Order: sequence, then C-alpha cells, then structure tokens
Amino acid sequence: MNLSDLQILKKEVLEKANNATTLDGINEIQISYLSKKGEIPKIMTKIKNVEDQDRAVFGQTINSFKNELIKIVNFKLELLSKNEKVQTFDLTQPGQWNKIGSSHPITMITNEICSIFQKIGFTVADGPNIETIWNNFDALNTPEDHPSRDKQDTFYLENGDLLRCHTSPVQIRYMKSNKPPIRIISPGRCYRRDTPDSTHSANFHQIEGLFVDQNVTLADLKGTISYFAKELLGKSVKTRFRPHFFPFTEPSFEVDFMHPTAGWIEVLGAGLVHPNVFKNIDYDSDKVSGFAFGMGIERIAMILYNIKDIRDLYENDQRFLRQF
Ligand code: PHE
Repeated sequence: MNLSDLQILKKEVLEKANNATTLDGINEIQISYLSKKGEIPKIMTKIKNVEDQDRAVFGQTINSFKNELIKIVNFKLELLSKNEKVQTFDLTQPGQWNKIGSSHPITMITNEICSIFQKIGFTVADGPNIETIWNNFDALNTPEDHPSRDKQDTFYLENGDLLRCHTSPVQIRYMKSNKPPIRIISPGRCYRRDTPDSTHSANFHQIEGLFVDQNVTLADLKGTISYFAKELLGKSVKTRFRPHFFPFTEPSFEVDFMHPTAGWIEVLGAGLVHPNVFKNIDYDSDKVSGFAFGMGIERIAMILYNIKDIRDLYENDQRFLRQF
C-alpha cells in the first residue's frame, strides 16, 4: 500500500466511523481495523516496504489514523449503547410493581371494630395471653367446680397459670387498676382445647367490651350493641337478644345480627356484670353497674369476607392473603 492509498483509506474509514448509527456497525469497524488481526496493525507491519521518501509521512498517517479511529470508536460505543438502552425501554409496557403487604383480615376486622367503639368513647385496653386461674375463672364468678370450666378447659402451664380461654380476664385486670366510669374494648388472642376443623381452632381471637358506671341498664347494652351492628353491617341491620348463661353476667344473652345474605348470625355474648364479679374486685355493686360483651373475631371475618375454612386465616398462604 502506498501513501496516497493510505490517505484515501483513512478518509473513508474515519467518515464511515463518524456516520455509524448502530452498535453493530461500530463494532464491525473496530474489529476490521483496530483488532490484532485488523487492517491497521497489518498495514503497520508493512511500513518497511514503503518508498524511502514517503515512509516518514506514511508512519505519521497510519498512527494518526489509528488514534483518531480509536477516539471515534470509543465515543460512538458509549453514545450508541446509551441510545440502545433508551430504545429498549418500552413506554407502553405495564410497570413493574413491588408487591407490598396488607393487613391480615383478622387485623382489619379488629381495627374496624375497635374504631367503631372508639367513636363512642371506648378506649383500647390490653391484657396478657398468659393469665392467672383467678383472673380467667374465679374472679369471673366461675369457681373450680363450675361446669363451664370443663367446657373451656384450657392450656395450663407448670407454674399454675394458663393460656386465657377468653378476653374476659381483661375486665378483672382493668377494674382492679382503674375506677369507674370504665369504657374499654380489648382485642386479643385466646386459647381453648379444640379439635381443629373448618370452624374451630385451638387459637382464636376475641374482642371484649366493658362499660361500668352508675345506673347502667340493659337499655344501655342494647343501644350500644345495636349502634355497633349498624356501624358494622349497615343502617338496616336488626339485632336479636336470646337469653343465655354466662357465669360473669346476669342476665346474659347471645346476640345475633341479621346479615343481608347470611341471615341471622350469632355475633356475641353479653350481659350485665354479675354482682359477684364486682365483689371479687372490691367494687360496691350497690353503687356501680355495668355491661360486658365478648365476640369472636374469626367468625365475623369469615362472614364478612366469605371465608369458608377458619384454617385459611392461619396458614399465611400468599394466594389467600393477597385478596384482602
Ligand atoms: N367470655 C365469653 C365467651 O368467651 C363472652 C362474653 C364476654 C360473654 C363478656 C358475656 C360478657 O364466650
């Protein structure tokens, strides 16, 4: 190759590199001219064959050819690879969302029920899952030989304490450390000896309510419960009080709500606080009176969300939980 051929080649290749619009194009130029077996190194090995008077200029030309081409190729590689990234970003594709968690249905129902009662002046009180036998049974007018103690026989610990079988012991704890008027709501876990099936679980959740003041009557209980039913299920919902027995309330009731699709559903146990309960925590039952109620949260969640098997609530299956 002589000097003038080199000059023509240089001009052509630099132009081609400058005009390259694709990464493939610029890669091809790099391979053909700059790689070890490319044109430029090949030409460089042949400088010695160039005519004497041209050799110096030939050398300078091939060097500047190489350096300029490297500059252009590097610049273009950077520019075009950026462009390529921009071009592969398809604005019409749906976005990728990070999956974020949501509250568990038990938590959602608990929060909703608590906020319904908070609107009428109840505050949320907490109690431990491990209770004394006294708080769980005796103080609630359920002595050792009481038959309902068998039915609710619960999990005993070696030190004589137990896993509470209902949230009612929070009534005792709260009344012992506070003076009336008392208006509390207390959600939490409970434990009972139970064989698991689609509607039973040895571990479940309740919400307890307690109202203690002067001259509290059944009318206050009924008014409060029917307000709650309307807030939870809608203005037209009816409530039904059926006589029942609980050792810690007298009179006692089971309360049903009329659900638009499920019909009458049993929602809670309730009644006026038994005088023996007041006696057990040194309240004067001639001066104070009150009502209490307790409800299972799982039942309500299952009806409101149409859940058929209580065990679905505890298995943490994402496909189930994602629906809420
Ligand atoms: N503790 C009762 C139960 O677990 C419910 C209840 C609470 C009933 C308060 C009356 C008053 O079934």
